[in-house]
Amino acid sequence: MLQEEAAGKAPRTSLHGHWSSRLAFVLAVTGSAVGLGNIWKFPYLAGVNGGGAFVLVYLLCVVGIGMPVMMSEILIGRRGRRNPVATMALLGEEEGSSRHWRLVGAMGVLAGILILSYYSVIAGWTLAYTWKSAVGMFTGATTEQVGAIFGSFTENWLPVAVCHTLFMGLTIFVVARGVERGLEQAVRIMVPALFLLMLVLLGYAINSGHFAAGVDFLFSPDFAALTWDGVLAAMGQAFFTLSIGMGAIMAYGAYLPDETSITGTSAAVVTADTGIALLAGMVIFPLVFANGLDPGEGPGLVFVTLPLAFGQMTGGAFFGTVFFVLLVFAAWTSAIGLMEPAVAWLVERYGRSRAQAAVMVGGLIWALGFGTVLSFGVLADFRFYKGTIFDNVDHLTSNVMLPLGGVLITVFAAWVMCRNSSAEELHGAGAMYRLWRFAARYIAPIAILFVFLKAVGVLPDLSGDA
Ligand code: PHE
Repeated sequence: MLQEEAAGKAPRTSLHGHWSSRLAFVLAVTGSAVGLGNIWKFPYLAGVNGGGAFVLVYLLCVVGIGMPVMMSEILIGRRGRRNPVATMALLGEEEGSSRHWRLVGAMGVLAGILILSYYSVIAGWTLAYTWKSAVGMFTGATTEQVGAIFGSFTENWLPVAVCHTLFMGLTIFVVARGVERGLEQAVRIMVPALFLLMLVLLGYAINSGHFAAGVDFLFSPDFAALTWDGVLAAMGQAFFTLSIGMGAIMAYGAYLPDETSITGTSAAVVTADTGIALLAGMVIFPLVFANGLDPGEGPGLVFVTLPLAFGQMTGGAFFGTVFFVLLVFAAWTSAIGLMEPAVAWLVERYGRSRAQAAVMVGGLIWALGFGTVLSFGVLADFRFYKGTIFDNVDHLTSNVMLPLGGVLITVFAAWVMCRNSSAEELHGAGAMYRLWRFAARYIAPIAILFVFLKAVGVLPDLSGDA
């Protein structure tokens, strides 16, 4: 599969092989996008930030910022066909700018490492919850019992660390094997299955939950409940859930065949990802209200709500187990994307084998993960700036590094790259192209910077209503 790039004008190819088809790419990007972000993070952030208004801002960010950033990332990745660091350096030079654009790639590599350090811990929770469901621990459990199970599990560092270790092992294993084997297969089954199961859960929520209250919470915007910090969180979540701003999609784009439509692919991925997040919200909030739970519960929200529901429904142990297995898979296919930029970089830059690189990067991430493991236990009271170590890593990555990466990526694709280059990748200069270019030149960077400055309080409050 190794295809050395011939000197001269031969078409650029990736060192790591290519996706076997357009569908394979769509599946891989969807697999990267759909993950804990949709089912764990979206509901709890929406809950903490007051519901409807947060959701509305999130949706606006997905369409106005997420779409153009994703298209920019894929087109840069495919044009460079290298790891994000080398791709940015190469294109920066090729477009008559600077090799220093590689710093954008480097920031992405770092963001991926930091995100995976906590992502893997939460994925470890889902592993443990698969087991807990399977042995019937939630059958007939009360709200208090389910809460107690979550509390005592996450407080205890050892079992959490074991699950985190297991999950990192799984991730290293697949990343070491390369892009085509394993990865494509997993997504092909996992994404549709997850979708189906969410529909089953939706049926349950409609029958057994306070469905109207849940939907109302999720879709009636109450702007008084949303701070600028909340707006920043909504924007950060749009980045996080779509896997954009850190080079994961750029790395995947490097393996994309030339003839595939970037616009169509992006639209499909964005739709699927948003659909699953909204579904998760429509399942969880009716159950929250039916059981007198607190929507602002935080990172434990899904781990309390759903086990409670599974514990009460017929066949709940079975559905619960299947659900958590699917969630593990969803997290797994996302974790792979988080590691890919760093691994591709080590392979290309230092000539490491994929296996070596995966073990090195994975080991580092595993060690960093202890910051999060302990954030829910002995270090729960060790708080600074935004809260625990976990809170800070999450804030720094989702709300700062990803949006910043997004600005730089769109500015590069739409301002630095010449029209010919971007039009070639997007197959023509028609209306869709012009729409992308406008959004990538103006809407995305300006919106991101505006929210950013608002959240840190640099911009004055003129209307006085927020
Ligand atoms: N999008 C993934 C999720 O929602 C997380 C992720 C972020 C994956 C960035 C890859 C890159 O769970």
